[in-house]
Amino acid sequence: MSEDILKMAVVGAGYWGKNLVRNFATAKRCCLKYVCDLNKKVLAAQKKSFPSIVTTAELEEVLSDTEINAVAIATEVPTHFDIARKSLEAGKHTYVEKPLTLKSVDAKMLVELAKGKKLKLMVGHLLEYHPAVNYLKEMIDKGQLGQPYYMYTQRVNLGIVRQNENAWWSLAPHDISIICYLLGSEPISVAAQGQCYLQKDVEDVVFATIKFADGKMANVHCSWLDPHKIRKMTVVGSEKMVTFDDMEATEKIRIYDKSAAIKHDITTSYAEVISLRFGDIVIPKVPSVEPLSLECRHFIDCVLDGMPIRSDGTEGLRVVRVLEAGQKSLKSNGEPVNPESF
Ligand SMILES: NC(=O)c1ccc[n+]([C@@H]2O[C@H](COP(=O)([O-])OP(=O)(O)OC[C@H]3O[C@@H](n4cnc5c(N)ncnc54)[C@H](O)[C@@H]3O)[C@@H](O)[C@H]2O)c1
Repeated sequence: MSEDILKMAVVGAGYWGKNLVRNFATAKRCCLKYVCDLNKKVLAAQKKSFPSIVTTAELEEVLSDTEINAVAIATEVPTHFDIARKSLEAGKHTYVEKPLTLKSVDAKMLVELAKGKKLKLMVGHLLEYHPAVNYLKEMIDKGQLGQPYYMYTQRVNLGIVRQNENAWWSLAPHDISIICYLLGSEPISVAAQGQCYLQKDVEDVVFATIKFADGKMANVHCSWLDPHKIRKMTVVGSEKMVTFDDMEATEKIRIYDKSAAIKHDITTSYAEVISLRFGDIVIPKVPSVEPLSLECRHFIDCVLDGMPIRSDGTEGLRVVRVLEAGQKSLKSNGEPVNPESF
């Protein structure tokens, strides 16, 4: 883009969207002109916080404004496809909260629409912008863990209990996006099991195993019916093991210099023995920056400078495929399902 300032609108300023409003309203190289929401109370609250912003309940008012270059959407998931399609058709670069859509066929259409119109399409895979996740990503990419074998994530708490989506759709998009981002390979099967305790047909707890073409594996445990608030992942490599605990205030990453390997023991006629190594535990200093501000800045910079987006529409499509595969597996008692079939 030739302009130096991105003129933006945020559509949906509820529980999460208000954070997007705060970040885009205060970001450098960005002018947030509109907040659009169907709820008048939400609009009044935003007007009070940011008096210069135009508030409206009419999406058309935003989309027909030729000054607006980009739209960020944080409405309920079932509305993402329709609003994002309208935004792209109106020629706006578009940011959509996770998950991109409810169906991969819709996500694919958005990806193609954005490509055809040479517009940026970004999905709010927040944790890909978390400094600790990127510290871990750099370690993996530099081979400091050796060969990454497998990882598991736990995202559990008591609440927020949703009625229109299960714990898998509500909580797992973040984990799936980080798993694909960190392991950097294509998922080939998802096997998920869960149970509905509070509401009919809405799983409160899900355990899902994702397998990758190159033999790596990941497990996701998500629940809104749990006594603990845990936001944690563990990555096990051939040389080192790492945990990322997002509930820790400062010491989010722990690197365990531990490994196991098969060795030939020359004292016992070259028999194979398993040697276990227990080394130091290192807690590196990781910059403490709000991931959402980095994510919003990334969107602004990529649109203005024409750079590729990390969590683009194709990434969003991949996550939706894994979600759909997991959903199908949930309903068929944990049968493995290939995300490519969607
Ligand atoms: N990245 C994260 O960590 C994170 C956290 C929570 C929610 N989210 C995502 O944010 C999105 C919104 O979730 P939420 O919890 O804020 O929901 P919410 O129900 O609190 O807010 C949605 C808002 O959208 C408005 N809205 C709905 N349809 C609209 C339309 N057609 N035009 C204008 N406004 C409309 C509603 O009035 C409401 O204020 C979801 O995609 C969710 O997955 C992301």
